[in-house]
Amino acid sequence: MKAHIVTLPGDGVGPEVTAAAVAVLKTIAARYEHEFTFDEQLIGGAAIDATGAPLPAESLAACQSADAVLLGAVGGPKWSDPNASVRPEQGLLALRAALGVYANLRPLQVHPALADLSPLKNGKLENVDVLFVRELTGGAYFGAKTRTADTATDECKYTVVEIERVVRRAFELARGRRHHVTSVDKANVLETSRLWRSTVQRIAADYPDVKVEHQLVDSMAMLLLTQPNRYDVVVTENLFGDILTDEAAALAGSLGLLPSASLGEGKAGLYEPIHGSAPDIAGHGVANPVGAILSAAMLLRHSLGLEAEAVAVETAVDQVLRHGPHTRDIGGSAGTAAVCDAVLAAIEEYADSAAAFFRGTRACG
Ligand code: NAD
Ligand code: IPM
Ligand code: MN
Repeated sequence: MKAHIVTLPGDGVGPEVTAAAVAVLKTIAARYEHEFTFDEQLIGGAAIDATGAPLPAESLAACQSADAVLLGAVGGPKWSDPNASVRPEQGLLALRAALGVYANLRPLQVHPALADLSPLKNGKLENVDVLFVRELTGGAYFGAKTRTADTATDECKYTVVEIERVVRRAFELARGRRHHVTSVDKANVLETSRLWRSTVQRIAADYPDVKVEHQLVDSMAMLLLTQPNRYDVVVTENLFGDILTDEAAALAGSLGLLPSASLGEGKAGLYEPIHGSAPDIAGHGVANPVGAILSAAMLLRHSLGLEAEAVAVETAVDQVLRHGPHTRDIGGSAGTAAVCDAVLAAIEEYADSAAAFFRGTRACG
């Protein structure tokens, strides 16, 4: 198939991990006979430096006409003055809003080879398989903001339409998994959470085959550590989802491991690792590319409908996590490029064995 992919490497380790994800997509294209075209555009601090704007019109237009967008990370100390008039993160938020990608899928699994890296005892990590569905285009991130010398406000607003569409997406996803949705809110305090909870209760009636439970976000932060394998699909609002998924990444062993897919109504989507620009390690070639590479796998699956190719990438990553090489954040000493090369080799090996298998079945059949 033909697909046009816009890449937004961004800042810090963004370009380093995006290069790895693009190399993976190029290997997939060559190996599975697809034609992927890539168009690199500016976002974040790099865009501010070059144009003054965190999301230049040209970048946005390119993203709007792409089949999928692959993003690295934005932000960093250079642009983090709290009094700055423009910030890199504004570019990412504007992009999410403009693309209408309201459902942010953040899967969490704990690889057995990395279980020792988790702060939890191994026993608690068996069968951890959670899909976080984070609302991405509403809430405090997008409400009105005010600031005077001594007061600041961030309005947190949700409409029923905004809640309903992401919650329905969570229920649909649960039907393809273990039929269990946990909705996380703060309905004991926040009005937006009470609207959220009553909307979930109403929608749940349309999915009698899916078990639903409600959990307050503060105790959810605790339960994620004490009983992580109890959860299947976890749906929550924007800010709660941001915080809970970084916590979840610690269970997997590193923030550098978790991918994400941000989806709206159509096929096009925005794909990015959940981590940031990691200024403390940027420029050293040591960032873990796995979160970005698994985001590319999600791109193949959700935007391009290439399930077998997505599985090829995920299987290759599984092999590399099992046998190494590993980056420093997960206890190894390899650089980003070495891990990427190992993933590329594992994809070739997987494709070879799949091809041999099919030749074999044809010969027998
Ligand atoms: P961060 O995610 O950048 O880093 C947190 C810690 O995780 C650091 O110690 C870092 O070295 C480590 N880490 C992150 N990614 C890693 C990887 N791939 N491999 C190995 N280690 C990794 O979070 P932060 O330091 O709080 O934020 C830094 C900047 O990134 C801020 O400007 C923030 O706004 C931005 N940010 C951007 C995104 C995004 O673009 N999607 C996401 C989160 C944070
Ligand atoms: C993320 C990041 C972003 C968010 C920031 C950089 C705007 O933390 O993608 O998780 O808060 O959504
Ligand atoms: Mn975050």
